[in-house]
Amino acid sequence: MNSLLTFTVPLLCSTLVWGGYLEDDQDVLVPVDWAHVSRLSPSEELELTFALKQQNVHQLEETLRLVSDPDSAQYGKYLSLEEVASLVRPSELTQKVVHHWLQSHGVTNCLTVHTQDFMQCTMSREVAEMLLPGSKFHRYIKDGHSLVRSSSPYSVHDDVHQHLDFVGGLHRFPPNRQDLSKAKKSSGKHTHLKAWLHLGVTPAILRQRYNLTAADVGSAQNNSQAVAQFLEQYYHPADLAEFMSMFGSSFKHMSKVDRVVGTQGGGKAGLEASLDVEYIMSTGANISTWVFTNPGRHESQEPFLQWMVLLSNMSDLPHVHTISYGDDEDSLSAAYMMRINTEFMKAGVRGISLLFASGDSGAGCRHLTKGRNSFRPSFPASSPFVTTVGGTSFKNPFKVTYEVTDYISGGGFSNIFKMPDYQASAVDSYLKAVAASLPPQTYFNTSGRAYPDMAALSDNYWVVSNRVPIPWVSGTSASTPVVGGMLALINDQRLLKGLPALGFLNPRLYKLKGQALFDVTEGCHLGCLDEQVQGKGFCAAPSWDPVTGWGTPNYPALLAALLK
Ligand SMILES: *[C@@H]1O[C@H](CO)[C@@H](O)[C@H](O)[C@H]1NC(C)=O
Ligand SMILES: *[C@@H]1O[C@H](CO)[C@@H](O)[C@H](O)[C@H]1NC(C)=O
Ligand SMILES: *[C@@H]1O[C@H](CO)[C@@H](O)[C@H](O)[C@H]1NC(C)=O
Ligand SMILES: *[C@@H]1O[C@H](CO)[C@@H](O)[C@H](O)[C@H]1NC(C)=O
Ligand SMILES: *[C@@H]1O[C@H](CO)[C@@H](O)[C@H](O)[C@H]1NC(C)=O
Repeated sequence: MNSLLTFTVPLLCSTLVWGGYLEDDQDVLVPVDWAHVSRLSPSEELELTFALKQQNVHQLEETLRLVSDPDSAQYGKYLSLEEVASLVRPSELTQKVVHHWLQSHGVTNCLTVHTQDFMQCTMSREVAEMLLPGSKFHRYIKDGHSLVRSSSPYSVHDDVHQHLDFVGGLHRFPPNRQDLSKAKKSSGKHTHLKAWLHLGVTPAILRQRYNLTAADVGSAQNNSQAVAQFLEQYYHPADLAEFMSMFGSSFKHMSKVDRVVGTQGGGKAGLEASLDVEYIMSTGANISTWVFTNPGRHESQEPFLQWMVLLSNMSDLPHVHTISYGDDEDSLSAAYMMRINTEFMKAGVRGISLLFASGDSGAGCRHLTKGRNSFRPSFPASSPFVTTVGGTSFKNPFKVTYEVTDYISGGGFSNIFKMPDYQASAVDSYLKAVAASLPPQTYFNTSGRAYPDMAALSDNYWVVSNRVPIPWVSGTSASTPVVGGMLALINDQRLLKGLPALGFLNPRLYKLKGQALFDVTEGCHLGCLDEQVQGKGFCAAPSWDPVTGWGTPNYPALLAALLK
C-alpha cells in the first residue's frame, strides 16, 4: 500500500510525458455520411468512458469454460454480479492511479459501475483534450442526429497507459444499418409470383417450421428475455399490440414489453426495433420481455459500449439477450475488441446467453492494396464468447419446406480471435470436407474463430411498424430474436425443473454435433465481386459450415437435448 503513495507523486509531475496510444489501430476516419458541424467550444461538455484494466481475466475465461461445459462439475454454477466484481475488479493501484490522473486534471464528475472497471466522466472539451493529448473534439451530424467525436487519435500519459484498456467516446461512429430491407435485391426473379402466392414469414410459419406447438410457451416465474438496440430505433407498444392481434391468434403470448431500460424516443418506430420485439415474443411466447434501448444521454456516447457498461451495473438481468449490432473487425481497435470480449465473458459466467446477428454481407469484402481483396469478418459476431446466428430461406419460397442458405448470411473467420477449442474439430472437418472448393487461402484466416454457430429463417418476414404491416423484411436481425426466443423457452423448461439457465451455449451446442438441428447443406453466401471468387464466399455443407453454423433449431429435439 505504501508504494501507492509514492507512485502517485511522480504521476502528478509528469503531465508532459506523452505515454502513447491505447488504440493506434482504431479507424479514426469520419464516415462519409456524417457531416462536420464545428469544433466544440472549449467549455462544452462531453462524456468519456474509461475502461480500467481488470484483474484475473484468465481466471474469468477458465471459469466461463467450466460453467458452460456440460461435462464439467461446475456446469451451470454461475456467478453473481458481486462475485464477478470481486474477480475482475481493477487493482487498488490501477484505481488509484486512474482516479489521481483524472483528479489532477480537475475531472471529478464521474460515475463508476459495480465491477469498478468502467468510469464515465463528464468534462469540458478543454480538459478532455489536455487529458488525452492528440484528441480534437468536433460535432458531426447525420439525419438530424448529432454526435461528438475526435478527428484525430488520442494518447494517454505513461503513468496511466498500463492501467487502461481504452477510452470510449472518441472514435467509433454508429455502424450503418445495412441489413433489414424491404425491397431486397433477392426479390427480383420471384417478386411477381410471391405477390400472390406466398404469405411470407409470420409467427405461425416459424412455429410450424420449428415444430413449436401451442403448448410451447413460457410459464416459469422470473424467466425473461431481452432485445438490445442502439441505433436511434424505437419500438412502439401499439405496433407490438397490432402485430400480436394480427399474427398471434394461434399461441398464448404477451402483447406488452415488461421493461424498457434506457430512453425510448418519441420519433417514428424503427423497422429493426419493431422486428426484434415482435419476433422474440413470438417464439419466446408468454415470456417477460425487456428492451434495452439507446440511452442517448450524451452526444459523445457509444451506445453499444453504454449497453455493456450497463450490464456491469445491473445484478438482475434476463437470461437471454439478442443484439443486431455489428461492425467490420478492421475498423475497430484490437484493444477495444479484446476488452468487449472480456465483457462477454463477464456476462457468460453469470449465465447470460448473448446472441448476435452474423451480419448481412455474407463473407464480406475488404479491398486491400493493389486489387487484392479478402473477406471481411464482423465483430461482435466473431467473438468466441457469443452465439452468432446466421440466416436461411425456405427452399421453396411458397411453402414451409426445408431451409437453404440465405445468400446474405454473414459468416467467416476472425482475424482477431483465435479459434476456440469448442469448435476446432467441427471447423477442421468442414475445411477438410470442402477443401477442393474453398475460396483462396488469402481471403480468410483459418486460425480464427469461425462463425456463425447456428441459423434460422432470415428472409421475407412480416413486421408491423408505425401501425402498418410490412412484408418482405429480411436480414439476420430477424433470425437472431427467433433463436433467442426459443432459447428462452428452453430456459423456461429448465427453470421449471430446477435447472440453471443455459448461459453461454456454444460449448454445449458444438457437443451436440448438429443433433436436434436441421442441417442446412445448400447454397453459398456473398463474397467479393472480383475475378478470383466471383461474388461467392463460403458454401453450406453437411454438418457445421461458416454460412449457417450447425443449422436451424428443431425445437422439441433441441429442448430434449438441452433439458438435462
Ligand atoms: C451504477 O449503479 C449505481 C447504483 O446502483 C449508480 O450509483 C451508478 O451511477 C451507476 N453507474 C453508471 C455508470 O450509470
Ligand atoms: C419436426 O419437423 C420436421 C420437419 O418439418 C418433421 O420431419 C418432424 O417429424 C417434426 N417433429 C419432430 C418431433 O421432430
Ligand atoms: C403465461 O405465463 C404466466 C407467468 O408469467 C403463467 O402464469 C401462465 O400460466 C402462462 N400461460 C400459459 C398458457 O402457460
Ligand atoms: C424477477 O422477479 C422480480 C419480482 O417479480 C422482478 O422484480 C425482477 O425484475 C425479475 N427479474 C428478471 C430478470 O426478470
Ligand atoms: C489470423 O488470425 C490470428 C488469430 O487467430 C491473428 O493472430 C492473425 O494476425 C490473423 N492474420 C491476419 C492476416 O489477419
